[in-house]
Amino acid sequence: MPLVGTKEMFKKAHEGGFAIGAFNVNNMEIVQGITGAAAELNSPIILQCSAGARKYANSRYLVHLVRAALEVNDIPIALHLDHGPDYATCKSCIDDGFTSVMFDGSHYSFEENIQKTKEVVEYAHSKGVVVEAELGQLAGVEDDVSVDADKAHYTKPEEVVEFVSKTGCDSLAIAIGTSHGAFKFTPEQCTRNPETGVLEPPELRFDILAEIEKQIPGFPIVLHGASSVIPKYVKIINDNGGKLKDAVGIPEGQLRKAAKSAVCKINIDSDLRLAMTAGIREHFMAHPEHFDPRQYIAPGRDYIKELVAHKIKEVLGSEGTAPAIMELINNK
Ligand code: G3H
Ligand code: 13P
Ligand code: ZN
Repeated sequence: MPLVGTKEMFKKAHEGGFAIGAFNVNNMEIVQGITGAAAELNSPIILQCSAGARKYANSRYLVHLVRAALEVNDIPIALHLDHGPDYATCKSCIDDGFTSVMFDGSHYSFEENIQKTKEVVEYAHSKGVVVEAELGQLAGVEDDVSVDADKAHYTKPEEVVEFVSKTGCDSLAIAIGTSHGAFKFTPEQCTRNPETGVLEPPELRFDILAEIEKQIPGFPIVLHGASSVIPKYVKIINDNGGKLKDAVGIPEGQLRKAAKSAVCKINIDSDLRLAMTAGIREHFMAHPEHFDPRQYIAPGRDYIKELVAHKIKEVLGSEGTAPAIMELINNK
């Protein structure tokens, strides 16, 4: 099975009330952990690389790692550029064999965002590649760009029809209260659950999501910054020498609710980082004498696999949907 685009995945996700997990990849063990879980659960998957990942690993390594995953696992996999900062990066990924790119023009003015997104869409579509665009701005850090919470702003529903029709983009990332990283909310913004002691953040703006859906019915919506910062992995990290205080993510119930709506793609990176770090820290605490990387990276990979399986079953709802997507692609 070759790499696939996201059109058919999103069509089925929309019809079936589930979402496709888009997981960030930076090395072989992350690719293996994610795709191992997806293959066992017969789930489609999007593997995405940021500009930082391409710099760290070299884009060619990432492309070949993902191709290797396709040889080993019989599931639909899309290879996506996450937060493409400019036309040149998007073009380079398209020329490298990516099947989907994001152009992130969210920090430009509305008009500039339209203009720059449109340029990427024209090139991408001429090569059969789909484009994700972003309207509204999330708080948090990605690569070298850091957006303060007070500079972030929600997507304006009244702008989406013009944006989508003028750019020709294939999916739209929106801002409804998610943010990047493992510290999405300050403790002051949250209430502490008296029974569990876990910090609970304010609800996502489902009212804005509903308004956007009304404006562009059936159009695939993307949620960035959607890690839940699962307490289990944070605890393992902290119990094994880590120092992550007051890490807070998006509660899984809210993501499940989003996945049942027009949200077709849910981006997860921080949860992968936490799972891998938990596995490696736990291993080193138990085996301080080990120094073979295979010994300590494998537990990180195992936790990534466990985490992704949990997401597919409990959050995304994409278990068992691979055959229907493959059929749609094959009958195109
Ligand atoms: O949205 C950002 C992703 O978590 C990628 O992070 O730019 O550090 O690779 P990165
Ligand atoms: P998290 O930091 O919540 O995992 O978000 C990842 C993301 O949006 C990648 O584009
Ligand atoms: Zn993102």
